[in-house]
Amino acid sequence: MLKGKHIILGISGGIAAYKSVYLLRLLIKAGAEVQVVITPSGKEFITPVTLSALSGKPVVSEFFSANTGEWHSHVDLGLWVDAMVIAPATASSIAKMAHGVADNMLITTYLSAKAPVFIAPAMDLDMMAHPSTQHNIELLRSYGNHIIEPGTGELASHLVGKGRMEEPEQIVKVLSDFFSVKKSLRGKKVVITAGPTYEKIDPVRFIGNYSSGKMGYAIAEEAFRRGADVTIVSGPVSVKVSSPDIKVINVESAKEMEAATVAEFAAADIAIMSAAVADYAPSECARSKIKREKDEIPIITLVKNPDIAAELGKKKRTGQLLVGFALETDNVEFNAKDKLARKNLDMIVLNSLQDKGAGFGTDTNKITIFTSDNDRYDFSLKSKPEVAADILDTLINKYLHIDEA
Ligand code: CTP
Repeated sequence: MLKGKHIILGISGGIAAYKSVYLLRLLIKAGAEVQVVITPSGKEFITPVTLSALSGKPVVSEFFSANTGEWHSHVDLGLWVDAMVIAPATASSIAKMAHGVADNMLITTYLSAKAPVFIAPAMDLDMMAHPSTQHNIELLRSYGNHIIEPGTGELASHLVGKGRMEEPEQIVKVLSDFFSVKKSLRGKKVVITAGPTYEKIDPVRFIGNYSSGKMGYAIAEEAFRRGADVTIVSGPVSVKVSSPDIKVINVESAKEMEAATVAEFAAADIAIMSAAVADYAPSECARSKIKREKDEIPIITLVKNPDIAAELGKKKRTGQLLVGFALETDNVEFNAKDKLARKNLDMIVLNSLQDKGAGFGTDTNKITIFTSDNDRYDFSLKSKPEVAADILDTLINKYLHIDEA
């Protein structure tokens, strides 16, 4: 799967850099073309001579060649690359990547890379557990980067804990799994609604909900990986897409989401409705900020919002597929099946708030899928990207008749 792939191996300065030599060897053995980019402190741990001998290319570290004055173009590298893997990624490099501190060639290359980026952190357990590091890792994840979680074991400090860089064999496996995905959605246009809606009360207040958009964005990333032409109609969220080729239409209210989704659905093959749409909105938005009155409590009159999924269910043509979500607390199966029928969906993904780790704001989800012809599929608690893969596998195997095995 890695044969002929252009890989940038970014190495920053940590003890685990010795493992990068082996990682480089495995990547070359798998047929990849590898360009090593190393930070100045990385060179304190392993020598560029070893790395260039194994990769068959001069190692890039400085912005200019000291001998010839030639500029090393991180922009060209960013265009050349199919995947960038930073292993080890130290706390310092992680912080610089998260905040765009472009003071070495590794970070400028990262900022220019127009390809998926895989980051394998390695550091001592306390540095790893520190809120700053955790926050920076979450930021990198929210930008669409793939974090290859470190393992637990003995560290360079002889302390035992989480912080060991993932083993080179496993990193190669993550990369080859990434490239091995069949393009089973090539030629399909997929529209996904994601996130919450905000319904304005006055210029500074709104009715909203806790939806993070993570589930919808994970489905979008997975559909894109499988070759689909993807559009997300997104309520206000902080998640970002990993590629500029995933189209994002930003909206705020249910009405705006309705207009954009209906327009996109006309030419779509598949619509997946993962947004948490507010069912009601204030009947009007006050022109100026509502002031606190001494004696009176303001009454906000609500009106019904459009049901976007149901509307698409009415417009659905033969061959178009419509998938909805149901987040339920009680009578979960009955309510999910009722929505499936009422909104004329082909599939509904139930997450029950009775299950720990499922629903809003979490990084995991536990789902059951029901189909309009009464099939049922149960899944265990998984990360949202894994859940996204399960949803698309089910949809593809059932309705598009492509064997993905
Ligand atoms: N949905 C929608 N537009 C709405 C409400 C819901 O498109 N105005 C979609 C959701 O994106 C989801 C499905 O319909 O795919 C079910 O959403 P949910 O909020 O569970 O259903 P409701 O019909 O609002 O039912 P209730 O809130 O009573 O559970």
